[in-house]
Amino acid sequence: MIRINEHYLKLQASYLFSDIARRISSFQKNNPEREIVKLGIGDVTRPLPEACIEAFHAAVDEMGMESTFKGYGPEQGYGFLREKIAEHDFQKRGANITADEIFISDGAKCDTGNIQEIFAADISIAIPDPVYPVYLDTNVMAGRTGICKDGRYENILYLDGTTENGFIPDLPERPADLIYLCFPNNPTGAVATKGILARWVEYARENKAVILFDAAYEAFIRDEEIPHSIFEIDGAREVAIEFRSYSKTAGFTGTRCAYTVVPKTCMAYTSGGEKHSLHSLWNRRHSTKFNGVSYPVQKAAEAVYSEEGSVQVKVLIDYYLENAKLIRKEMTDLGYSCVGGINSPYIWINGKTDSWKFFDLLLNKAGVVCTPGAGFGRCGEGFIRISAFNSLENVQLAMERIRKAV
Ligand code: MLT
Repeated sequence: MIRINEHYLKLQASYLFSDIARRISSFQKNNPEREIVKLGIGDVTRPLPEACIEAFHAAVDEMGMESTFKGYGPEQGYGFLREKIAEHDFQKRGANITADEIFISDGAKCDTGNIQEIFAADISIAIPDPVYPVYLDTNVMAGRTGICKDGRYENILYLDGTTENGFIPDLPERPADLIYLCFPNNPTGAVATKGILARWVEYARENKAVILFDAAYEAFIRDEEIPHSIFEIDGAREVAIEFRSYSKTAGFTGTRCAYTVVPKTCMAYTSGGEKHSLHSLWNRRHSTKFNGVSYPVQKAAEAVYSEEGSVQVKVLIDYYLENAKLIRKEMTDLGYSCVGGINSPYIWINGKTDSWKFFDLLLNKAGVVCTPGAGFGRCGEGFIRISAFNSLENVQLAMERIRKAV
């Protein structure tokens, strides 16, 4: 008899953003005349930067000629892109990362979801709350948790993010082997200083733990003092893996390109205490299960680092940051306390009521979609997340409608 992976039965009914999409489509069915402004899922709306489009077109043309046609590329990504990443995203910021430590992929969601495969089934895992649901759900699927009781899975060390700690969780009280961190944070928009990251790196070194650092939103950092990468912290090369994405940086949500950095010095152990390189394990996993991102997409991503590309990307992000500033100001003026929206496209708002109730109120009365904080964990209850990814006109319209609705 064929049997299922019963760990899937422990999961909540559906993935947060699928659930929200279903609610929107049912609302639209019942209210076909209402125009909805979507500030829920962080999906970009501005077109790709011109430099990326040009590189994309040129690469497609290359694929159309026998002399320049390309079949399978290297599973880890083309050297031209990996070299640019190492130089621009890391070495220029003083982080010692080399091209061969970078793995190009089709998304940070997939990588942050898949990486847990290279770790043992019985390790202790520390996950922030609120949190991007992928980290938790993929560990549930892999059987590392017990059942979910009162919104919390057994065997997970939750790191509470609260108003009191500014949504920067404290170090775990019990030893953790694998720690998920995300800065600038999704969903709260909170950012971590060098001092905060240094404490985590020190913790990981002392506990022989590994930090999975999701930096998908680093391009939104405008404060000079805030680190963009965990590898700007001394000692992080031994204990951290970092995830980056072009989705929010350069409008690639529909184009798909991201990367993961696994330093060659980052180690984990067998049950007998023998040291193993996580770089080799991830390389083995990546080359077995992944066949590379398409050549034109990698050429488009490479263009992000050209002179014109980097200016265009900055303009693109500044646009969303202006939206974020407006949302934060309007919601603050309405009497709501807000986190984020400064070095981040997300504004985390204390709605002073049940998250889903506030979500329904905004949808029904204002025709605005947000994301209910409770969907990101128990500590998110009472909050909503508003995303800055839309046109300025739509953000202005949403704010005008929210003002009337509340
Ligand atoms: C979000 O809205 O949290 C993100 O867009 C989801 C994602 O990047 O997968």
